[in-house]
Amino acid sequence: MKALVTGATGGIGRATCLELNRAAQARGQRLVLAAAASKPGGALDELVAELTAQGIDAHPMHADLADAAACARLAAEAVECCDGLDVLVSNAGIVRGAPLAMLDVADWDTVFAIDVRATWLLARGARAALAQSRGAIVAIASVASLYPFPGLGAYSPAKAALGMLCRQLAQEWAADGIRVNTVSPGLIRTPLTEPIYRNEAFLRRREEVVPLGRIGTPDDVARAVAHLAGPDAGYVTGIDWRLDGGLGDHILAMIPGVPRSPAPS
Ligand SMILES: NC(=O)c1ccc[n+]([C@@H]2O[C@H](COP(=O)([O-])OP(=O)(O)OC[C@H]3O[C@@H](n4cnc5c(N)ncnc54)[C@H](OP(=O)(O)O)[C@@H]3O)[C@@H](O)[C@H]2O)c1
Repeated sequence: MKALVTGATGGIGRATCLELNRAAQARGQRLVLAAAASKPGGALDELVAELTAQGIDAHPMHADLADAAACARLAAEAVECCDGLDVLVSNAGIVRGAPLAMLDVADWDTVFAIDVRATWLLARGARAALAQSRGAIVAIASVASLYPFPGLGAYSPAKAALGMLCRQLAQEWAADGIRVNTVSPGLIRTPLTEPIYRNEAFLRRREEVVPLGRIGTPDDVARAVAHLAGPDAGYVTGIDWRLDGGLGDHILAMIPGVPRSPAPS
């Protein structure tokens, strides 16, 4: 199996690389992987060494996904290096925290460039190879694509746009046999969110609002990504997999005054 994973050095990205490998091995395949980060060296080299030790034919790639030309270049390099492509996981994403009243226009544009436009440009660059393999695209959206996240400015609008972009791609490219789906994680503990979870009080309060009673892990997300990318999801396209421990549907349970048990007589 040949795959490109962006944001590969991040929490969900690294777990996805490892899970794609487990899935490939279970099918008797070797994973050829283009592991992409924003910059060369450092964390990327360490990741590639770790993946190589697992038996993955891993290749380090780098591109600033805020740059349109770099997205096209990355897709072309990945296809060339892997000699084709079965799976594109568009995982890289950023948050620029500021309420909309205060958000810089440049920050709005950067969030949309990385969290939305990059997926389109990577997909377009990989389209011919994915059509040849009848491959799959999985993009990492967020529960913030379904519910506004006050204070996070452009993040919810961008992730919502990413969801529609993928549904649009799913329709336009279904005839080529390319499946396109999103995974929308809820509260996941990764380097992006680690500063919040290091605060014990925030950790406990966040766990309390998740019906399953715990914060998600990168592996929780990676297993869903690998499933959507693989042949067991061969008839699935244009869907969003909300992966949030029940958080999104918990809203009505928070309304005070609703009887939860029979009233005392
Ligand atoms: N953690 C959560 O609770 C959560 C919830 C919902 C959705 N998500 C989404 O899940 C995805 C992965 O997030 P994560 O939690 O694993 O965060 P993370 O550990 O911070 O990983 C994000 C990755 O995005 C890459 N990236 C950022 N800017 C980039 C750029 N300009 N060019 C190329 N790559 C860039 C980073 O690469 P470098 O390190 O090389 O810069 C990093 O590896 C994101 O799309 C995020 O929005 C996360």
